[in-house]
Amino acid sequence: MAPSKSLCLFWFSLFTILRNVALEADARAFFVFGDSLVDNGNNNYLATTARADNVPYGIDYPTGRPTGRFSNGFNIPDLISQAIGSEATLPYLSPMLTGQKLLVGANFASAGVGILNDTGAQFINIIRMPGQIAYLEQYIQRVSQLIGQQETDRLISQSLTLMTLGGNDFVNNYYLVPFSARSRQFALTDYVVYIITEYRKILMRLHEIGLRRVLVTGTGPLGCVPAELAQHSSNGECSEQLQRAAGLFNPQLQTMLDSLNREIGSHTFIGVNIRQTNLDFISDPARYGFVTSKIACCGQGPYNGIGQCTPQSNLCPNRDIYAFWDPFHPSEKANRLIVQQIMIGSTDYISPMNLSTIMALDAAQINV
Ligand SMILES: *[C@@H]1O[C@H](CO)[C@@H](O)[C@H](O)[C@H]1NC(C)=O
Ligand SMILES: *[C@@H]1O[C@H](CO)[C@@H](O)[C@H](O)[C@H]1NC(C)=O
Repeated sequence: MAPSKSLCLFWFSLFTILRNVALEADARAFFVFGDSLVDNGNNNYLATTARADNVPYGIDYPTGRPTGRFSNGFNIPDLISQAIGSEATLPYLSPMLTGQKLLVGANFASAGVGILNDTGAQFINIIRMPGQIAYLEQYIQRVSQLIGQQETDRLISQSLTLMTLGGNDFVNNYYLVPFSARSRQFALTDYVVYIITEYRKILMRLHEIGLRRVLVTGTGPLGCVPAELAQHSSNGECSEQLQRAAGLFNPQLQTMLDSLNREIGSHTFIGVNIRQTNLDFISDPARYGFVTSKIACCGQGPYNGIGQCTPQSNLCPNRDIYAFWDPFHPSEKANRLIVQQIMIGSTDYISPMNLSTIMALDAAQINV
């Protein structure tokens, strides 16, 4: 007897439902912690001056409107979500982050923060690292109520995390003002050792909570951003003290991550050498399609590096040919280059292995 049409339809629907469930199970939750390089709108919900919710921020975002991202369009977390086939995460403070949306993950980042609690002290009400981690714990409670403890443990252990911190501990702390409290307390070399020690504690805490794949980005070439050129550069040369700071911080970060991994006995922490990608397009902008890596697209004054990007700022017509969107933050195009190296870069860019390798390894593990 030939199966009836409705039976066919039944099997087809069941198959479709099962396939969708499988696809959903494959998409891993994604968590984001850190500063303005990765904040996607948490500060919109806070009474703080560290925000990017005015035009022309977001001018190249699909909505063409500001979102709180410090970018003309997508930022690094968006592009990672796209590369791994996930929806973009919502800011943790978004009222839309409820129900099934929680299973996509969450972005806890907050512009202005650093490794240290006293970093970004001029910004009130931002979510410093203890607060971001407390929100992760609250998130886990909420997800447990939704899908139960066991499934939540699985979601957490199979998740992917991005952590971007450190730049502000120099720019908005040690070097914020001449004779800052931290610079009177520590020589630069000792300060770097201190913040790496504090960073280690933060990462260890994430491991204790159950996160097992954490991309940790170093800082870019801090002294070469348009804001620093505007203040310190007469000929377009990078600020020496901040370059020295980044030069000390990045290798010690990688050493610390390697030592953490050895202690844990797994490749939980993956170091991303953003400095290398940035140096690539700073040393040879034309090769990456940029007309300049010194002048910000949106800003004012020398290098468009003074003050904030506001509706009154100079604005370049084509954002894709600028490495920097505003005085501190890369353009979407530059973010794409950074994420490309995260996905498929060699160990000069990401260590011990790139994200496409991690995804393949983890998929193989889950399917056995
Ligand atoms: C930062 O603040 C948290 C709690 O608010 C505290 O537990 C932690 O020790 C502080 N970190 C440093 C380096 O002072
Ligand atoms: C990075 O990714 C590519 C593509 O998946 C892979 O072929 C390559 O070997 C990876 N690792 C390194 C260290 O280059």
